[in-house]
Formats: sequence, structure tokens, C-alpha cells
Amino acid sequence: TLSWTAALPPSALDEHGVAKAVVNGLSVALYVVDGEYFATADLCTHGQASLSDGYLDGELIECPLHQGTFNVKTGAAVDAPCSVAVRTFPVKLEDGVLHVGME
Ligand code: FES
Repeated sequence: TLSWTAALPPSALDEHGVAKAVVNGLSVALYVVDGEYFATADLCTHGQASLSDGYLDGELIECPLHQGTFNVKTGAAVDAPCSVAVRTFPVKLEDGVLHVGME
């Protein structure tokens, strides 16, 4: 079953719409795209880089290390060298705080 954990308020997202939070011991990157919130694992599937340090362009997050991209809505690897999807998590806004759902 899905359990929801408070992560951070939307105001914690930076000017590019990205923030990092630790949820249940896992580093997660949170994003806002057109007023909707999304979350992926923070660790790039290509190497030791933090996607929350990357650049969000629409629904694509660009990894800061080799500039590969993922779709933050689906986790799909879009641009090389990323080829393995990144894990995604559901996000909901409740009581002014973004919550991340995990199994
Ligand atoms: Fe992210 Fe290489 S570590 S693209």
C-alpha cells in the first residue's frame, strides 16, 4: 500500500521549480510543471549526480553531470547518455505541504 510522507512546502522549490527532499531515507527530487507536482529519485540512473541540481526545462530534467534528460512525469530516459528510467513517485499537496507517496 502507498504511504504518504510530508516532504517540503511548495515554497521550497527553487526558481527553476526543483527541490531535493529525503523521504523515508531516500533522496527524492521534486518538481513543479505547469502548477502540477512530480517527484523522481534524486540519483541519476547514469551516474553519481543529483537530479535536483539539474535544470528543469518544461517536463524534462537535465542531469548536471552529462546533460542527459528524463521526463519527470514518467521517469523515462529521454536524452543520452541516460538510457535507464528513473523511479517516479506520486505527489500530493495537503495542508500546504507536498507529500510523496511510496509503497
Ligand atoms: Fe546523469 Fe551522467 S550522471 S547523465
